[in-house]
Amino acid sequence: MTAPALDAGLLGALREAVGAEHVLVEADLTASYETDWTGRFTGRAGCVVRPASTEQVAAVVRACAAAGVPIVVQGGNTGLVGGATPAGGEVLLSLTRLDELGEVDRAGGQVSAGAGVTLADLQKHARSAGLDFGVDLAARDSATVGGLVATNAGGIRVLRYGSMRAQLLGAEAVLADGSVVSRMAGLLKDGTGYDLVSLLCGSEGTLGVVTKVRLRLVPRLASRAVALLAMPDADAAIAVLPGLRERLPHLSAAELLFAPGLALVRKHGHLPAPFGEEHPAFLLVECADRLDPTDALVEAVSEAEGLLDATVATDSAGQRALWAYREQHTEAISAEGVPVKLDVSVPTGRLPELVARLAPTIAAVAPDARPIVFGHVNEGNLHVNVLDAGELAEQVTAAVLHLVAGLEGSISSEHGVGRAKCEYLGLSRSRTEIAAMRAIKDALDPAGLLNPGVLLPAR
Ligand code: MLT
Ligand code: ZN
Repeated sequence: MTAPALDAGLLGALREAVGAEHVLVEADLTASYETDWTGRFTGRAGCVVRPASTEQVAAVVRACAAAGVPIVVQGGNTGLVGGATPAGGEVLLSLTRLDELGEVDRAGGQVSAGAGVTLADLQKHARSAGLDFGVDLAARDSATVGGLVATNAGGIRVLRYGSMRAQLLGAEAVLADGSVVSRMAGLLKDGTGYDLVSLLCGSEGTLGVVTKVRLRLVPRLASRAVALLAMPDADAAIAVLPGLRERLPHLSAAELLFAPGLALVRKHGHLPAPFGEEHPAFLLVECADRLDPTDALVEAVSEAEGLLDATVATDSAGQRALWAYREQHTEAISAEGVPVKLDVSVPTGRLPELVARLAPTIAAVAPDARPIVFGHVNEGNLHVNVLDAGELAEQVTAAVLHLVAGLEGSISSEHGVGRAKCEYLGLSRSRTEIAAMRAIKDALDPAGLLNPGVLLPAR
């Protein structure tokens, strides 16, 4: 695949904006930016540009706008829906050099972070000041703040702290004409009209390039207890959660997994069995508090209806070992092959029905496919990964997403819509909503410069 050559005038303007060494054109230098980590999405960029400040981003956007060349925005390249991968010929704007972290504002419980700061670095920074960041997820070492904002990422602690939008107190962003909006004061109350910062969150780089954000921090709760509950089936595992939530005000995570996913994780991660016997379904729960939450967790777990077995880890090595069964799902699945990757949510009351209907729905269109399902039970959010779908990948996608829509669910819970699911957006959003979204896009980016082909379906 050769990259469509960019106009020499544009390349010159980009080099002037960010320095020649940060405009990458050669294929061996651009390759790592052009394919997502799952290997599902790939495309040649006209070039990769690596700005180091909001001003440099603005200069790049102005140069691209003048040349009429579209831009794809990328953070840590850990996305799962092709939202940060070029389709062909765009300028790929990599934001990883925007990695500045401001001093933690302990009085306000806030911090400013550049779009290229990794989640792990943000967490470390907050913890060094005795605070913490509310969002956490397995890709923390590579996922960047900009990508988390672009997708309104969720992860494993939404139960306690909400998704990325709930952490966002301000942002600085470059709009499609190169102008800059900056609301970084971190106001906790602000009734002055449209909430542009919230609008940018979840817009997947289609409305503006977020370069910096102001984030809410949460208390650091260093005392943790983690339990893995073995359950007879999904219904029992789901049914346990409301009781745990009521009894454990310090509950911070509740993750659902099943025997097939656990078997893959054990195979690829060379992990021991968590229990002496095999079990069909599992709930992984974590409590975090200032005082040791172990006793309360043990008591609540021991009274869980349907419980087959349980193990509780109080030391950090044991907790990491239990979390590995859950967090290594994504890598273990990818080690088996390139899956159809779906990320759906339904109203929590309908989660048992979704789980029950998934396997027959997939088998009806792809009898040889292997569904591996896991997810965030509190939010009714399942990650449906389907291996061995082969030529039937699109039929599997359509069948699962229609099932979800029929249950009043979302076709994208926390990974974004990207290129992967934009043709299915109408299953979760009405014509009126999509028309309103298009009107906003057209107003802010009339030339369709920012992430074309992402989020909104083709007209
Ligand atoms: C997770 O919860 O582990 C992530 O959303 C990644 C995935 O679904 O593969
Ligand atoms: Zn997830």
